Amino acid sequence: MSIIFSGVQPTSTPTLGNYLGAIRNFPELQEGNECYYCIVDQHAITVPQDSQLLHERIRKLAAIYLAVGIDPNQSTLFIQSEVPAHAQLGWILQCYCYIGELERMTQFKDKSKGKDAVSTGLLTYPPLMAADILLYNTNLVPVGADQKQHLELTRNVAERLNNKYGELFTVPEVFIPPVGARIMSLVEPTKKMSKSDDNQKATIFILDSEKDITKKIKSATTDSDQSIYYDKEQKPGISNLLDIYSLCSGKSIKDLENEYRDQGYGSFKTDVAEAVVNTLKPIQEKYYNLIETNQLDEILDDGASKAQSVAVKTLARVEKAIGLGRHS
Ligand code: TYM
Repeated sequence: MSIIFSGVQPTSTPTLGNYLGAIRNFPELQEGNECYYCIVDQHAITVPQDSQLLHERIRKLAAIYLAVGIDPNQSTLFIQSEVPAHAQLGWILQCYCYIGELERMTQFKDKSKGKDAVSTGLLTYPPLMAADILLYNTNLVPVGADQKQHLELTRNVAERLNNKYGELFTVPEVFIPPVGARIMSLVEPTKKMSKSDDNQKATIFILDSEKDITKKIKSATTDSDQSIYYDKEQKPGISNLLDIYSLCSGKSIKDLENEYRDQGYGSFKTDVAEAVVNTLKPIQEKYYNLIETNQLDEILDDGASKAQSVAVKTLARVEKAIGLGRHS
């Protein structure tokens, strides 16, 4: 049995990238493991948010987690800000991270590039993420490839405190899926598919309509070669569509290459779109059934109290070890 933790920011509806790179694996990991799946709303406010929209997106994300198959009887589903131990341990870990190592994080560099005013939270994002993970004695963290550097920092800070104070933390492993760890933009396939892309055609969102999904895939950037095979360097657009198609259909890339090699891009794209629609449709149906129910609140209340009961124990252990308060 492993302890699994992962989180998603409620900064927009999750994308197909979020789904194929991370969320898709969450329900599968429930069997035989102790899983914590978190809506990391405190991470979301490291960049400006509209408060009403943020509330709505938190609720939406909870419904999406359930719609993809997270079972609240098997997993703990909760909102980060409802478990105060995250911010408390996050502060402590900030005091054991160095500004230099945080400034080297690619996500910080990307998100702060060209901005006049950058919040302190954007810089101290990784120690809060480390706190999320370390509070639950996590063994395994399923994420997309873009989180690898944050996981390395989490392991480093855990080891740093373990070396100084004895075995305080379990040092977690990262789980990055072999296919789908980096789904690319449909417009610029050398760039990651992102929630915040200004070009609406670049990103498929989990709740997009069949019409929008088809339109976006049909207009995806490819190349002028007209031959379908996997080559990330020479054919990034086609390779990205092959990754998406393979994950949504269960067929291997090799089989898809054999099936489509001599067919035109038009019919290939039609079939990719159909596979994506078929993958997302059942999730959307479940989502629309769930979003208005008060079942959602009961699940989140229960999740927060289960998470807090584990998290406070870790926090007390750490505070005691480092000398805070009156722990004896
Ligand atoms: P976030 O909200 O940006 O993304 C959620 C998950 O989706 C993955 N992902 C992708 N996978 C493949 N292709 C893409 N284009 C793509 N875009 C995003 C991300 O790798 C992630 O797994 N820092 C995290 C949230 C977080 C967290 C945590 C994760 C906070 N605390 C603790 C794990 C454990 C983030 O910004 O994810």
